[in-house]
Amino acid sequence: MDHAATTPVDKEVLKEMMPYFSEKYGNASSLHTAGQEARKAIELSRSRCASLLNVEKEEIYFTSGGTESDNLALTGTVIANKKRGNHIITSKIEHPAILDVCKFLEKNGFSVTYLSVDRYGLVNPKDVEKAITKKTILITIMHANNEIGTIQPIEEIGAIAKKHKVYFHTDAVQTFGKIAIDMKDIDLLSASSHKIYGPKGVGLIYIKKGTNIAPIIFGGGHERKMRSGTENVPGIVGFGKACELAKKNMASEKARLEKLRNKLIRGLLKTEDTILNGSPDKRLPNNVNVSFRFVEGESIILRLDALGVAASTGSACSSKSLEPSHVLLAIGLKHEDAHGSLRLTLGKINTEKDVDYVLKKIPKIIEDLRKLSPLAR
Ligand SMILES: Cc1ncc(COP(=O)(O)O)c(C=O)c1O
Repeated sequence: MDHAATTPVDKEVLKEMMPYFSEKYGNASSLHTAGQEARKAIELSRSRCASLLNVEKEEIYFTSGGTESDNLALTGTVIANKKRGNHIITSKIEHPAILDVCKFLEKNGFSVTYLSVDRYGLVNPKDVEKAITKKTILITIMHANNEIGTIQPIEEIGAIAKKHKVYFHTDAVQTFGKIAIDMKDIDLLSASSHKIYGPKGVGLIYIKKGTNIAPIIFGGGHERKMRSGTENVPGIVGFGKACELAKKNMASEKARLEKLRNKLIRGLLKTEDTILNGSPDKRLPNNVNVSFRFVEGESIILRLDALGVAASTGSACSSKSLEPSHVLLAIGLKHEDAHGSLRLTLGKINTEKDVDYVLKKIPKIIEDLRKLSPLAR
């Protein structure tokens, strides 16, 4: 139940990738047959990824993952547009692949507005509009948050960006292939393969035709000079297949997961002193995030792990720092409540049986931990 962290490679995806390791191992830049075979496979994947987003094939560029796509979207866009201004707007609950780039850009002459969110983790589009100045060149707001699952009103934010002629980027790593994305007013989008049953280390950036953006990785001019480096052919082939499967299964899997998610939330909230983190309705179909007061998230994770359940927490030592999750603090949780958070993210392999199992085990785990907790006494 930790599919927001990563997913297993689908068997069909793996099957499609296999020949590209040692039989069809050509370099897609080579002119000979083996090279052209690899080129064809990459272009088929590009079409499959584009089809999932309903965009043109030429607007898709392959990268090494969501992190690289985020880095390129931000750094590449602001560098290319620095004559127009130096201001970026983002939110306080973005992934570090956005926030840490923003910090780097601040040290290099750019200024960043970090918008607050409400108690559900929602950005108010009016706040976005108010933050726009003559110097604003880029707005970047994630589609859905990886910790609490809150889905942002990116359609409204995109329309505001368009009205003010500011570029709009969204980190869609957690929504790509899971829910529909309205691409109308999106100029740049980041996605990752390993969150949708594809291999790790491959992702994409969508760049709307006409967007002024510079590359940040230079070399042999691959990906039409946007991202140099010999293409990860098996990875890209797997990503393309994963996109094809995601498109086919999206509607039914979304409905199935939502049912399981709702059952899980309802069941977990039956334990006293439990808070739901994130929005009750504007929420990823597979995301559950709750805080059990008076306990440590890490202790719950370890107890669940011993029972064969993989889960995650926004609490301290998982990230090797004593600070709880910036997302949970941004939605107004007290430090101690943020420390008691548990994230369960469902996926293809989970069934109702798994949900029932967790719901059966959790009350006892929490009861035991609270008995040990000085805060609960
Ligand atoms: C919202 C979000 N953005 C970016 C990333 C980074 O993606 P990748 O692991 O492909 O580098 C993640 C991964 O967890 C994520 O959840």
